[in-house]
Amino acid sequence: MAANEKRKLLITGASGHLGRRVVELLLETQAGSLVAATRQPEKLKDLAARGVEVRFADFDDPDSLNRAFTGVERMLFISTNEIARPGQKLIQHLNAIAAAEKAGVESVVYTSGPFRKPDNPYLLARADIDTEQALAQSRLGWTVLRHNWYTDLLIPRLAKAAATGKFMTTEGDSGAAYVTREDCARADAAVLVSAGFHNEVLDITGPAIVPNAELAAIVSRVAGRPVKHLVTTPDTYKSGLVFAGVAETLQEIMTSSDVAIAQGYLAVTSTAVRDLTGRAPQSVEEFLSVHREVLLAKILKS
Ligand SMILES: NC(=O)c1ccc[n+]([C@@H]2O[C@H](COP(=O)([O-])OP(=O)(O)OC[C@H]3O[C@@H](n4cnc5c(N)ncnc54)[C@H](OP(=O)(O)O)[C@@H]3O)[C@@H](O)[C@H]2O)c1
Repeated sequence: MAANEKRKLLITGASGHLGRRVVELLLETQAGSLVAATRQPEKLKDLAARGVEVRFADFDDPDSLNRAFTGVERMLFISTNEIARPGQKLIQHLNAIAAAEKAGVESVVYTSGPFRKPDNPYLLARADIDTEQALAQSRLGWTVLRHNWYTDLLIPRLAKAAATGKFMTTEGDSGAAYVTREDCARADAAVLVSAGFHNEVLDITGPAIVPNAELAAIVSRVAGRPVKHLVTTPDTYKSGLVFAGVAETLQEIMTSSDVAIAQGYLAVTSTAVRDLTGRAPQSVEEFLSVHREVLLAKILKS
């Protein structure tokens, strides 16, 4: 590569919340020659106008991946949000790994989950565990970034808790080290541009493990309403989701994630966000306070 030639960095799933933000961050720092891979190129016209090369890539379509990954040096491999077809997420991920090998990609940064224990009850944990293993067995250089649970996803649930005064969870006194998508995007971008990581696993977490009882106290403080933490069985928890009209495919998955969090499967913290980005990760209370207007609006709608 000529000295003035920039490395080709590819981001998969670039129309999603996380992928788009990583591309924006890399554009700000002019980190490399950016390729945004997506099934929905029409959604990325604004990024194309800013010099990003947009390529079609569908993890269900290996030929599209072979074309999309050509000439790429490093790629951020964002796990797909496939849930409707059991087992398909792993097939998609194995397609992506095979195509990256075929294209001669030097290094792959994979966004995984904090699911190191194989007995993890979270129904989507298996796909991440098996993807990590496939990467380790591949010819690729790899870094695994285990994103903890996104703080952003708490807003609708905590709004409902504040509206009803009840925060229902399954039994267990643990919690997760909730991390914001923004902190994850910054950490992902930092690792993608760095040549300093070789076959490593990093936990990308918020500053502390937040037990369920504390979440109830936090939302109570931020919303200015009393919120009581109540414990129930997984079956009753799932019935609540059915009653609330949650889609059938999501009911078991959401119940299993609640069990995993309450029982401590996501209870891990690290200093990676600060180390990688130079910024302390945002706490749940800080995040909710910054987004208080959104939280309050959702409470009114609940
Ligand atoms: N840590 C957590 O709390 C948590 C929670 C939920 C999900 N996640 C995982 O984190 C990922 C990123 O989160 P997010 O908030 O950015 O999700 P999101 O906005 O729903 O985006 C989902 C991503 O999946 C990609 N995708 C889906 N099917 C695909 C396919 N067949 N081929 C290629 N890409 C496909 C989409 O890419 P295009 O549409 O651009 O092709 C998109 O980037 C999710 O996909 C999920 O695996 C983590």
